[in-house]
Amino acid sequence: MKNNPIGIFDSGVGGLTVLRQIEKALPGENIIYFGDTARVPYGNKSRETIVKFSTENILFLLKKKVKIVVVACNTASALALDYLSGVFNIPVFGVIEAGARLAAQVSRNKRIGIIGTRSTIKSLSYDKVILSKEPKAKVYSRACPLFVPLVEEGILKGKLVEDIVDMYLKDFKHAGIDTLILGCTHYPLLKKEISGYLRGVKIIDSAQAVSIHTQEIIAQCNIFNNRRRRGRVEFYVSDEPKGFAKMAKLFLGREIAIPKVVNV
Ligand code: DGL
Repeated sequence: MKNNPIGIFDSGVGGLTVLRQIEKALPGENIIYFGDTARVPYGNKSRETIVKFSTENILFLLKKKVKIVVVACNTASALALDYLSGVFNIPVFGVIEAGARLAAQVSRNKRIGIIGTRSTIKSLSYDKVILSKEPKAKVYSRACPLFVPLVEEGILKGKLVEDIVDMYLKDFKHAGIDTLILGCTHYPLLKKEISGYLRGVKIIDSAQAVSIHTQEIIAQCNIFNNRRRRGRVEFYVSDEPKGFAKMAKLFLGREIAIPKVVNV
């Protein structure tokens, strides 16, 4: 069990921001990454659909004998985690709890902003965790659906990004938030632009927060890989492996081999 891989899944390539942080935090672990590129995006789909897709993705990861599953996708974490965490006999956890907890901790004035896909924002999942930790907190949220295609097109700065950032985030300025959660896999790539616009606001990257949580879970279960060598990552997708590999460079900062295609 200890030397089995960590499973990570996302709707596509965005979860590589989570993979990147987990690799950094746990360099000795092997990882199986699955990107559901045949059915992306998840960000505007219903709970029923996301629960179905996520269950199928985890069943695939279980075939690869993973010891834990990290739901890297914010939308899947928001809509399906309450179901998923109860049905498998290994730990299954997502990005929301970790990101929301950290935000509640670090915010001084307890005015916290959240950005994510439409489905994540509509689910109120981040809001619920924050308010359970800080009942008096004021939570402001906003769906930013144009950020995902911008990032996937590699448009990370410039006038277009500035205008869209202004359109989505100007209300946060008036609300006086001191902390903003990047509640979507893609948003860490826009972090510079976002923090430049919201000067002085602490930016919480859920990908980073979940890598710490992953370490904690592995420590609690006493399942650290003990082989003392660098871990390996295997990539699987449900469609478009070449497109995935090409975009991976943007998210991971390194080349990857063309992933294998699987039907889940
Ligand atoms: N991975 C999704 C998320 O973090 C963004 C892309 C999608 O809509 O599938 O919410």
